[in-house]
Amino acid sequence: MCNWTMRVVLGLLLLLLGLCGSGGRGEGGGLGEVGEINEFQETAPRDAGEESIELTTKQTTPDIWVEVRALRDMVVELKVYVELLQRENSDLQTRLSSTETELLVSKSRIEQLERENAEKPKVAFYTALTDTGYVGPHNTDTTLKYSKVFTNIGNAYNPATGFFTAPVKGVYYLQFTVCGNHTGLMGVFVFKNNQKIMFNVEWKEDKLYKYFTKSVVLELIAGDTIHLVLPSTYSVYDDVDNHSTFSGSLLFPL
Ligand SMILES: *[C@@H]1O[C@H](CO)[C@@H](O)[C@H](O)[C@H]1NC(C)=O
Ligand SMILES: *[C@@H]1O[C@H](CO)[C@@H](O)[C@H](O)[C@H]1NC(C)=O
Repeated sequence: MCNWTMRVVLGLLLLLLGLCGSGGRGEGGGLGEVGEINEFQETAPRDAGEESIELTTKQTTPDIWVEVRALRDMVVELKVYVELLQRENSDLQTRLSSTETELLVSKSRIEQLERENAEKPKVAFYTALTDTGYVGPHNTDTTLKYSKVFTNIGNAYNPATGFFTAPVKGVYYLQFTVCGNHTGLMGVFVFKNNQKIMFNVEWKEDKLYKYFTKSVVLELIAGDTIHLVLPSTYSVYDDVDNHSTFSGSLLFPL
C-alpha cells in the first residue's frame, strides 16, 4: 500500500514538474519570441517563432496525454485497491468488535467463577487420637475424641466432642485408621447423627501393632454430624507416632 501511494505521489510530482517545465518553456519561449518579433522583426523570424511554438506543443502534448492516461489508469486501480482495503477493514472491525464482546462475556464469566470459588466453603480436617497410649477397654461405648488436631480448615471438627459437623450441604469424604496394640478386640462404630452407619472390627492376636483403614463418601446436609465410637470391651492405641487418625473433607457442595 505504501509503495502504491508513493508511486502515485511520485508520478503526480513528476507529471507536475513535467507540465511546469514544458509549459514554462513553451510560454516563456513563445512570449519571448513574440516580444522579440514585435519589437525587432516582422516576417521571417515571426515564422520561426510560430514554428518554435508548434514544435514545443507537438513535443509536449502527446507526452502529457500518455502520462494522464497512465495516471488515470493508476487512479482507477488505486480506487479499486482502496475499496478492497475498506471492505477488509470493515470486516476486521466487525470481527474485532465481536471478539471484544466475547472477551467481555468471558471476563464476566471468569469473575463470576472467581466469586463462586471464593464463596465456596472450604472444609478439611486431619486429626490423631492421643499421645497417651491405650484408649479402652471401657464398660460402655465411648465416643473417641481425636485430640491432636493437625488440620481443621473451616473448623468443622470439634476436638472437645470428637464430632465433625457438616457446615454445608454437600458430598464429604471421611477416613479413619484404627490401631490396636492390646491382644483382643479393636474396632469402631461410625455414627451419622445418632445413627450407626458402620461397624469395623479386628481381632488382634500377635504382638505387633495392627491397623485397618476405612473410608466413606457421604451426602450430608448442613448440621449433620459424624463421630466414631469405641465399643465397650474394645481398645485402640495411639501415641506420638499418630497410629490412629480421623480425617475428612468436603468434596463439593450440593
Ligand atoms: C505395643 O505392642 C508391642 C508388641 O507387643 C509392645 O512391644 C509395645 O510395648 C506395645 N506398646 C505399648 C505402648 O504398650
Ligand atoms: C504426628 O503428626 C504431626 C502432624 O503431621 C507431626 O507434626 C508429628 O511429627 C507426628 N508425630 C510423629 C512422631 O511423627
